[in-house]
Amino acid sequence: MIRVSGLSKAFGAQQVLNSISFQVASGEVLAVMGPSGTGKSVLLLHLIGLLSPDQGEIEIDRARVDQLSEKNLLSFRRRMGYLFQDGALFDFMTVQENLAFPLREHTALGAVEVHARTTDFLRMVDLSGAQDKYPSEISGGMRKRAALARALILEPKVLLCDEPTSGLDPVRSRDISLLIRDLAKRMGCATVITTHDAVNAFRCADRLIMLDRGKIAAQGSESDLRSSPEPFVRAFLEDCPVAGEKKGATDAKR
Ligand SMILES: Nc1ncnc2c1ncn2[C@@H]1O[C@H](COP(=O)(O)OP(=O)(O)OP(=O)(O)O)[C@@H](O)[C@H]1O
Ligand SMILES: [Mg+2]
Repeated sequence: MIRVSGLSKAFGAQQVLNSISFQVASGEVLAVMGPSGTGKSVLLLHLIGLLSPDQGEIEIDRARVDQLSEKNLLSFRRRMGYLFQDGALFDFMTVQENLAFPLREHTALGAVEVHARTTDFLRMVDLSGAQDKYPSEISGGMRKRAALARALILEPKVLLCDEPTSGLDPVRSRDISLLIRDLAKRMGCATVITTHDAVNAFRCADRLIMLDRGKIAAQGSESDLRSSPEPFVRAFLEDCPVAGEKKGATDAKR
């Protein structure tokens, strides 16, 4: 579903990404990890065509993202769900109106159907009851869940989440991680999350990539990463406890 090969990107003299390659299948969750400033967000921005590579290819759902015209990129992005680092809900709309917005813009659904669909998705992320609140009236974890529901409301084939646990306490971080995993599996989305939160990356992802100075320092499952001989990877994971639970993520609440 997602295929990235040989992706390189520099800003001036700074080589941020240096020949990165990976693939993500439908329903699979990939976590891109690495310390702050290693190019995780830059990588995601390439996947939605907000940055174009100096070298390399990006193919999503058989479209070459790096070759799409601006016009085609707009319709392409409609088929992707993305969750920005800060959630980015519209402050002047209620939670339910935020979810309804993409449906009104991009589908021909009538008011009754929009209401039914948004109510369904609010239930899915455990926000029934908060539908009439404004983003400023709900907690950070609730805002993340509302933004996640909005990202998924058009039923995209691809879900991209930039730092889904940043700014959340450990319990809410765990819950949003399990929720992303659960929804990706249920909806069959090829999913990429970026994070420096290794505990929750292990909870959420099927496969992980560790970036270091523009290159992939290690990749694979949790145990592959934990047994990596790379000193950088070992240092990154040194204090990271084994996450434990992963499957059966349907009761992600709070
Ligand atoms: N548009 C841009 N122009 C110039 N430099 C940029 C631009 N976007 C990102 N960079 C640089 O690229 C590097 C990687 O940035 P990026 O935001 O991808 O890091 P990150 O891994 O997502 O970090 P964090 O964990 O803090 O979110 C940084 O040094 C940043 O300053
Ligand atoms: Mg970032």
